[in-house]
Amino acid sequence: MSNAYSPLFTPIQLNGTCLRNRIVMAPMTRSFCGQEGVPGADVAAYYAARAEGGVGLIVTEGVVVNMADARGYGGVPGLANAAQVEGWKEVVTGVHQHDGAIAPQLWHAGRLAHSRATGGLQPVAPSAIRASGAYMDVADPSTLTGEIPYEVPKALTEAEIEAIIQQFGEAAVRSKEAGFDAIELHGASGYLIHQFMNPESNRRSDDYGGDVERRAEFAARIVQAIRAAVGPDLPVIMRLAQFAINDFEWQTWANPDELECTVKRLVAAGVSLFHASSHRLNTPAFPWLHGANGRSLSSYIKEFSGCPTIAVGGVSYSATVFESLGGGTCAVTDPIDAAAMIEAGDADLIAIGRALISNPDWCRKVEAGEWRSLLPFGREALMSLD
Ligand SMILES: Cc1cc2nc3c(=O)[nH]c(=O)nc-3n(C[C@H](O)[C@H](O)[C@H](O)COP(=O)(O)O)c2cc1C
Repeated sequence: MSNAYSPLFTPIQLNGTCLRNRIVMAPMTRSFCGQEGVPGADVAAYYAARAEGGVGLIVTEGVVVNMADARGYGGVPGLANAAQVEGWKEVVTGVHQHDGAIAPQLWHAGRLAHSRATGGLQPVAPSAIRASGAYMDVADPSTLTGEIPYEVPKALTEAEIEAIIQQFGEAAVRSKEAGFDAIELHGASGYLIHQFMNPESNRRSDDYGGDVERRAEFAARIVQAIRAAVGPDLPVIMRLAQFAINDFEWQTWANPDELECTVKRLVAAGVSLFHASSHRLNTPAFPWLHGANGRSLSSYIKEFSGCPTIAVGGVSYSATVFESLGGGTCAVTDPIDAAAMIEAGDADLIAIGRALISNPDWCRKVEAGEWRSLLPFGREALMSLD
C-alpha cells in the first residue's frame, strides 16, 4: 500500500548492510543492566519487540567503553568485558530473528559523569571545567531533586587520551564479536567526544584543542581506531549535535564553515553515516545566523559529508524530549514531517525515540497510515522495559 508515509518504508543500503526501511530506533539510556552492565533477557526482549514491530535499524542505549570513568549513570551497559559481549549476543540474536539490524552506541560520559556512578573516580574531560546544570540519574532517585552540581573534572593527559581511544577500538572489536551490524559513536549531548568538539569545554593547546579542526581530532582518532578494528564494510555512525543535555543552548559550531570542517575530518577518518541530533528533526542548525527557518543540522551534514544521514527529534509527538521529561503533556502528531524530510533530500533515515518506547509497533501503524492510533509518551513509561 502506497501512501504519504511510504518514503519511510523503502530499503536502503549502508556499506555492507541492507536495511529494510528508513526507521531507526534512537539510542535511549534505560539503566536496566545492573552494576555489572550486562544486558539480560529483559533487555533482549525489549529490543526484539522493536525489531518485531518493523524497525530497520536499532541503535542501542549508550554503551560505555570502560567500567570506570566512562560510566555516567547507574545500570548502564558496557562493552568492556567478555560477560557483556555474551549479554549483547542474546540481544543481537533476538533482533536478527525479526530481520532487524542493530548497532551499539559506544559512549564515554566525560565530565557529565559523577563519582556516584564511576565508583568514586573523578570524572575526566578535555579541560578541568565543570559542566553547568545539575547531575541527575534515573537509577539514583536521590539525584532527581536537581540540586547536585556536576563535579570539576580532571583534564586528561595525552597518555590518558590514547588509552581512551584504545578502549573505543577494543569495544568495537567486542561489538563485532557480539554480531552487531554497525557501530554508532556518541559524539553528541555534551558527553566526552562532544566535549572535545565544543570550545566551552575544550581549552587545550595540544593536538586535541585550539581551532575547530584540532577539536575534532579526538573524535577522528577514535573513528580511525574503530575502522582499523572492524575493517571497511561495517557502517560507522557518528552522532553529532549542537546542544548538550546540561545546556540546551550550547553552540558547538558557530557557523556552517566550522561544521563543514568537523564533518570533512570525520569522513576522512572513516565515518560512513551521520546521526544529526536536534530538539526537532528540522530545528535550524544556526538560528543565530538564519532565524527560525534556517536549514537543519541533518541537511548541512548531508551536503558537507556526501554521506547518508539520520535525522531525529520530536517525530509523532507534540512535545520535545526535554519538554516531556519535564512532565509536559505530549500528544500524538502526524509523522508526515519525517516523510517530507526524506522526500526533500534533507535526510535518508529517521530516528524515533520516545514514540518507540510507547509503541513497539510504531512502524506497522505508520506504514498503514494509522498514526492516530499511536500511544502518547509519559515519564512513567521509563519505569519498566515493557
Ligand atoms: C529516556 C531517554 C534516554 C536517552 N538516552 C540517550 C542515549 O543514551 N544516547 C543518545 O544519544 N541519546 C539519548 N536520548 C535522546 C534520544 O536518542 C533522542 O534524540 C530524543 O529522545 C529525541 O527523539 P524523540 O523526540 O523521538 O524522543 C535519550 C532520550 C530519552 C527519552
